[in-house]
Amino acid sequence: MDLKFIRNILWPEYPKLPNTRIASYDELLPDGLTMGTLYIGRQGTGKTSSLARHLVDYFKAYPDRAIFVLDWSGSITDSIFSLIARERNFESLCGRIIYDELGSPDWIIPMPEFSHLYGVHYEEQSQRLALNLAKLAPELIKDAPFLAGLGLREIAPQLFRLITAVSNDQRETWQATEAKRLLTDEKLLRLVLGKYGNKVPEAKWFFENIFLQVKFSERELRSYALLAMLGTIEPPETRARIGSPRPGWTPREAIKNGKMVLVNGARLINQRNTQHYLFTQVYSLIMSEMNKRQPGSLIDKPVALVMDEVYSLLSIPGMAEEIGMLAPLYRSRKLELYIVLQALSQLALVLKQQIWSLGNVVSFGISNFEEAYQLAQQIFVYDPNNIKMSAKSETGQPVMEPDRGQYLQIANSIQRFTHRECIIRRYSSERVLDKNVLWVKKTKEMSNAPLYMSILDMKDILLRERGIKVSEALKVINQRRIKVEKVSLPQI
Ligand SMILES: Nc1ncnc2c1ncn2[C@@H]1O[C@H](COP(=O)(O)OP(=O)(O)OP(=O)(O)O)[C@@H](O)[C@H]1O
Ligand SMILES: [Mg+2]
Repeated sequence: MDLKFIRNILWPEYPKLPNTRIASYDELLPDGLTMGTLYIGRQGTGKTSSLARHLVDYFKAYPDRAIFVLDWSGSITDSIFSLIARERNFESLCGRIIYDELGSPDWIIPMPEFSHLYGVHYEEQSQRLALNLAKLAPELIKDAPFLAGLGLREIAPQLFRLITAVSNDQRETWQATEAKRLLTDEKLLRLVLGKYGNKVPEAKWFFENIFLQVKFSERELRSYALLAMLGTIEPPETRARIGSPRPGWTPREAIKNGKMVLVNGARLINQRNTQHYLFTQVYSLIMSEMNKRQPGSLIDKPVALVMDEVYSLLSIPGMAEEIGMLAPLYRSRKLELYIVLQALSQLALVLKQQIWSLGNVVSFGISNFEEAYQLAQQIFVYDPNNIKMSAKSETGQPVMEPDRGQYLQIANSIQRFTHRECIIRRYSSERVLDKNVLWVKKTKEMSNAPLYMSILDMKDILLRERGIKVSEALKVINQRRIKVEKVSLPQI
């Protein structure tokens, strides 16, 4: 008797996929999360809702672990808040949430490029920013001539070094918002070199002996790309964010205190370049904190980093390359990476090749056949016992499904998944892959119990807790001057 035949009669809904078992709801296992997780599925299939529920459960279960959520469209932020707002102890959960809304017009969370609160040397911070700009440059200034690009690599690190040397008594330095002025106002540049240059001799030498020695027109050409990049932080809310000296939160603090940081980019949907800049900045700050960790250390707690369709990191080749290496490279530093996508085609080529290094995969319906086929090959092992037709007679041989046929069948099923239907390949620990692929007919229902507090109020309160008024921040930034004492101008 054919077991499959009996099974199909008893459970007509049983998944037709090999090596699969039914799961009543979508669940990932905490000890397997350092393997990295991919959520994939066409628009509106339920990825964000499923991940939001997982993250909130995880957040409640592990009060000492930090979660960073980089949210391109604002939808995972809203899903998370709507779950938290339904919890009886929403106030204490909110106490662990840091809400960072990019580009919000009245209140903004300050996030300078340079601060002693990040706990790394200014030299490292200058290099971090220069490197970010170099990675973003091809995307942000597509028409930059070659020389301008070269100038960017040459000038940016020196300029940022010099900026971090300009500091007052409160250990606060100038910021990237002053870079443009410094580069275009020769008098100011000479003043700064004279007063603070000795703190950064390499930068002082560069400006005095190279930059200021070339003709003005040549200087303009070389700094063109850098100036164009700095233009992305000029919108007032962003200027207030980057120009204020004290960060509203730091990755170090968030990790130490088990916070969930929600970085919402929805308001900048129409300011692509600014959004690219700001997500790259936050990402690089988090990674610079992770880089301080000793691989394999037993005292470090896992840190989750979630990217819900963050194109700045997933589709710009300079950034994507790094993301692709994260999961295997940072496993020993206990990074739990989550990537959410509608289709593999959203990825930069380098990342497309590396995406399967993510161990856990939650796949909803996928529209594109090629992609569904690729997913089938990645998730399912070829099953030589998969029988296409049973034998016609007792002595006859059954017809085997060759591998291409088997994957075609699976890919077709994945394409036909209904709303909220998904399959999950998951690890239960770094060494153990679950024996079966899980099939979830419908992801767990989101509660529609009444909210204890409106989501808008919650966002507003949290934003003001760590934010500053844009108008006041701008006043401070615009008044930044060099106090002119008796300064001996460098003789050039
Ligand atoms: N578990 C759930 N319970 C109730 N409703 C759900 C659930 N999952 C999804 N939905 C409904 O489906 C809609 C789309 O879900 P969701 O935003 O999670 O999809 P998505 O795959 O992230 O979409 P996109 O690709 O556009 O980001 C939601 O607005 C919600 O109404
Ligand atoms: Mg979504």
